[in-house]
Amino acid sequence: MSGDLVRRGRLSAARPELVTEYLSSMDTDRWIAMADIRVDIAHLLMLDRQGIVSRDTSSAVMKQLIGMYENGIPESAFDEQYEDIHAGIEAHIIAEAGMQHGGRLHMGRSRNDEVATCIRIRLREDILGQLEALLKLRRTLLEIAGANSGTIMPGFTHLQHAQPTTLAHYMLSYEHAFGRDFERLVDAYVRVNRCPLGSAAFASTGYPIDRAYTAGLLGFPDLSLNTMDAVSARDFALETAAACTILMSTMSRLCEELILWSSAFVEFVTLDDAYCSTSSIMPQKKNPDTAEIMRGKTGAVAGAFVAALTTVKGLPMSYNRDLQDLTPSLRTAIMEAGRAVEIAAGMLATATFHPDRMRAEAGRGFSTATDLADLLVRSYGLAFRESHNIVGRAVKKGSVDLASLDEAAVEITGTTLSARGLTQEAIEEALDPGYSVSVRRAAGGPAPEAVAAQLEVRREAMGEDEAWVLDERLRLAEAETAMLEKGRELIAYHI
Ligand code: ARG
Repeated sequence: MSGDLVRRGRLSAARPELVTEYLSSMDTDRWIAMADIRVDIAHLLMLDRQGIVSRDTSSAVMKQLIGMYENGIPESAFDEQYEDIHAGIEAHIIAEAGMQHGGRLHMGRSRNDEVATCIRIRLREDILGQLEALLKLRRTLLEIAGANSGTIMPGFTHLQHAQPTTLAHYMLSYEHAFGRDFERLVDAYVRVNRCPLGSAAFASTGYPIDRAYTAGLLGFPDLSLNTMDAVSARDFALETAAACTILMSTMSRLCEELILWSSAFVEFVTLDDAYCSTSSIMPQKKNPDTAEIMRGKTGAVAGAFVAALTTVKGLPMSYNRDLQDLTPSLRTAIMEAGRAVEIAAGMLATATFHPDRMRAEAGRGFSTATDLADLLVRSYGLAFRESHNIVGRAVKKGSVDLASLDEAAVEITGTTLSARGLTQEAIEEALDPGYSVSVRRAAGGPAPEAVAAQLEVRREAMGEDEAWVLDERLRLAEAETAMLEKGRELIAYHI
């Protein structure tokens, strides 16, 4: 038996190789091949339980399936003479178990519900992997934050020195952002985790199948109920790719900072050699290539999302072959985002920060001018806009001391500030970056107490997120073990 077993009934065999390749999904199917074996096992257990196939058949076919589960899928199943891996695996089973057994596996289903189920199974795993990597990254950020609540550094707006903050506050800001990326992926996961199997082409089947049973075997808590929707829906994939894209936009910002911070004129951080490259001509160079590649990959992930979205836009119900073309985009999005998170965690964990350089920059550019303006309001009875203008005017004159402030105050209010009791000592205290940070105790702010409170909240959130991922992993592993046990029992029946 040669050629595609699906085609040979209805269609003539000959076609240009270019067309065969054009239609094939084999490359991407490697991503979902093992999921297909699990889907086959669940489907066959159901066919057996419902009496749709004989025990002889189910046990002979199960032997092939468990064999592939344990030893891998033979390379011959990936031959492009088969349109896709579903046909390749079915052909292998028929070749091994005979047509009278193997030829019955595809009863009551279609490749449409089969592939949708495979994608959801694989995506579920990849999302969990990505969540685990995100936990690692978030933990690293929290560790750096925990050790640096006294590390004063400049904060920027418009990339200009703005106000002093701490490295802890900075790292916590990224942890919050990645925490939301985590939430978005969990949210997508909930809708990925529904089972389309049994929808067949789109109208289900006349065989007395049990969809809830197969869903349970595969660890799905719910069905993707309407069978027409179930085979054509890919919004779960769009959502995941969108979450990956947003995550990468966070990631590329972090990379941008690391690139900037590691340059000689900033020198806030030294990245470990493992994450850097050198130049083929300039022997002195150490370049932050990993962060640059990662910032660049944001384009690939965003592009994959747009490609996926554009593929499904305007498709009528139900299955259309266009859908096949969405799978590689989804794979790119989840794979690239996953790799980035994993690598970023290592890049941060091995980075060396330079508190002296940060401290030296913290007070530059009149970064504590706001504190001085606040002092004038609090202690000398000025309106904030008045004090803002006075300090601004002094900055414009190029120095912020008692003389320049008095001069500015006369210009703006008609009287000096020394007349109101302002001293050079009070000015200097207000301009100290350490003081500036210490008074910013509002919830979420950079003062050490506020940072300690944030750390506590975020560590607790991390703990809950860790428990969620662990539970989900456990739930899936238990379902899989139970399913395999049933499969092995079927084989044992035959012996
Ligand atoms: N390889 C196909 C895909 O990825 C499987 C479904 C094929 N269905 C069909 N009606 N040709 O979408």
